[in-house]
Amino acid sequence: MTNAKIYDVKPDIAHNAHINQETYQTLYQRSIDEPGAFWAEQAALFLTWQKPWQTVMDCDYSQGHIRWFEGGKLNVSENCLDRHLADRGDQVAIIWESDNPAHDKKITYRELHQQVCKFANVLKSQGVKKGDCVCIYLPMIAEAAVVMLACTRIGAVHSIVFGGFSAEALKDRILDSNCQYVVCADVGHRGGKTIAIKANVDQAAMACPDLKSVIVIKNGTENVVWHNGRDIWYHEAMQGASDQCPAEAMDAEDPLFILYTSGSTGKPKGILHTTGGYLLYAAMTHKYVFDYHDGDIYWCTADIGWITGHSYMIYGPLCNGATTVMFEGVPTYPEADRFWRIIDKHQVNIFYTAPTAIRALMAQGHEFVTRTERSSLRILGSVGEPINPEAWEWYYHVVGDARCPVVDTWWQTETGGILITPLPGATPLKPGSATLPFFGITPEILDSQGNVLQGEADGVLVLSCSWPGQARSLYGDHQRFIDTYFKSYPGYYFTGDGVRRDEEGYYWITGRVDDVINVSGHRMGTAEIESALVLHQHVAEAAVVGYPHDIKGQGIYAFVSLNVGVQASEELRRELINLVRQEIGAIASLDIIQWTPALPKTRSGKIMRRILRKVASNELDGLGDTSTLADPTVVDAIILHRANQ
Ligand code: WTA
Repeated sequence: MTNAKIYDVKPDIAHNAHINQETYQTLYQRSIDEPGAFWAEQAALFLTWQKPWQTVMDCDYSQGHIRWFEGGKLNVSENCLDRHLADRGDQVAIIWESDNPAHDKKITYRELHQQVCKFANVLKSQGVKKGDCVCIYLPMIAEAAVVMLACTRIGAVHSIVFGGFSAEALKDRILDSNCQYVVCADVGHRGGKTIAIKANVDQAAMACPDLKSVIVIKNGTENVVWHNGRDIWYHEAMQGASDQCPAEAMDAEDPLFILYTSGSTGKPKGILHTTGGYLLYAAMTHKYVFDYHDGDIYWCTADIGWITGHSYMIYGPLCNGATTVMFEGVPTYPEADRFWRIIDKHQVNIFYTAPTAIRALMAQGHEFVTRTERSSLRILGSVGEPINPEAWEWYYHVVGDARCPVVDTWWQTETGGILITPLPGATPLKPGSATLPFFGITPEILDSQGNVLQGEADGVLVLSCSWPGQARSLYGDHQRFIDTYFKSYPGYYFTGDGVRRDEEGYYWITGRVDDVINVSGHRMGTAEIESALVLHQHVAEAAVVGYPHDIKGQGIYAFVSLNVGVQASEELRRELINLVRQEIGAIASLDIIQWTPALPKTRSGKIMRRILRKVASNELDGLGDTSTLADPTVVDAIILHRANQ
């Protein structure tokens, strides 16, 4: 990597930045040398506490025991709303841009505060109490922010399920987190199409006997099926609700939300984040990574159903008193210039999106970009998957006109916030590298035996010290939390990612080292997809792997073997694709199905995925050692019938 291109820090950006090269080094050193004092200072700087904490941190990775600011009391909605009212009550908190380019809406901090208090009272009137879990299944409408913050106001724990997940996936998540309340919309709008939302809730609800109420936000004009006694219209309930609602005093370690994400085995895991540490980490990283200044218009394109939507569309920006943009639609509707038009329309200064969107828009040609101004832009961000240098350069040169630093931010649902990232005023950039650790973050690279590698190295990425935004547990299964993240390499948090460190200490994330794939920035477990496939009566076995895909980053490649006597057909192929969409959602669309009489297995019956990955990626020269295979001819047959991509 010696020849990697470098873009130096821009003097104008560094001049006005919160953090420059010198302050980065000094503060980083302090955060490592005196973490207790460092984090205590930050917690006092970024958050308003009702009662100070007693202990800054108390962590023991061997037990998965992670505690920050214990004894401290605070409320998230108070930090995101009430404390801003005196100075910026009339400032816009949320700019909501509809799928339809003719519609938008601006909500001030005062208005948001009122709506949040009202909805908090609605929740209370439905019987929601501190500690109860509320499932949120919503499209990207501004009310989503109201609902999230209302939960935090009364100490309810939210579990947001991405609107693109199917009824089946929704049901699993409602049951796993024991949610008795769901907030949904009648429909959603994306790319000019109407998407049924409530119909999925109705279907999921059939298998959720404990569900008490479904609060429905009216977002369309269609009639929806109504269940009297269970369903409640949001607008009707809001009408009579008081706009006075005291903010519940929460312990720093009280649960804030659960968010399901995929792992390499079994069912999706309910990642649990708590109140104080999470909010501090989201707010602090939002301010420094995006060099956010008062008055900036900030836009993160992520959906609220993902961690990026939680930390960098809602909690981080609102905690810092920012104006945050929420977009209901898709980048290509009505045309492939929609992002750039929105940037011009709302004079966006900071823009944060995913490599898959960048690649898809790059494929549409420059003209959609160059017909817009984009002169308001100052900082560009990327998240969700490795960004290939070509897409990075296009983002930097074409979208940002070579004026705006690109911050390639590496993190995970489990980390709560950004861990490895450039800071705009401090870090020279290398396209394709997430660069250097944020304050308090101590990445290490290990070899497969768990030895720490120094200097230039290639291995698995682990973290040795805790940080306030770290997940605290998996909901209802703390042992699985310990086993997944702290067992493989004792003393470290295991990320599941591979990484390379270059001669200047820059980190280059190389992708997952486990059976998790990343399709268009959506994280999926291959095991989940395989479980869906084998539900089909004709399927004997299935193995799913990722393969490089120009736009999606990774595509989904399924090797399927059918029951004896069943003929493969185009119809069966379509049935399997639909089955997976039905079980998981539209984001899990199989790209390739290869029929195979058998899967390559070791003599002990383990599927050799390494080989399947190579075949799917068309790396047929490097199949490695196949001597442990029970039947090596299976591999020859798979190669011979490899699907054309
Ligand atoms: C990948 C998303 C390279 C990584 C915030 C990680 C990245 C997984 C980057 C987490 C990046 C995220 N460069 N890879 N900048 N950002 N990833 O939980 O494999 O949806 O483990 O969180 O996405 O995905 P998750």
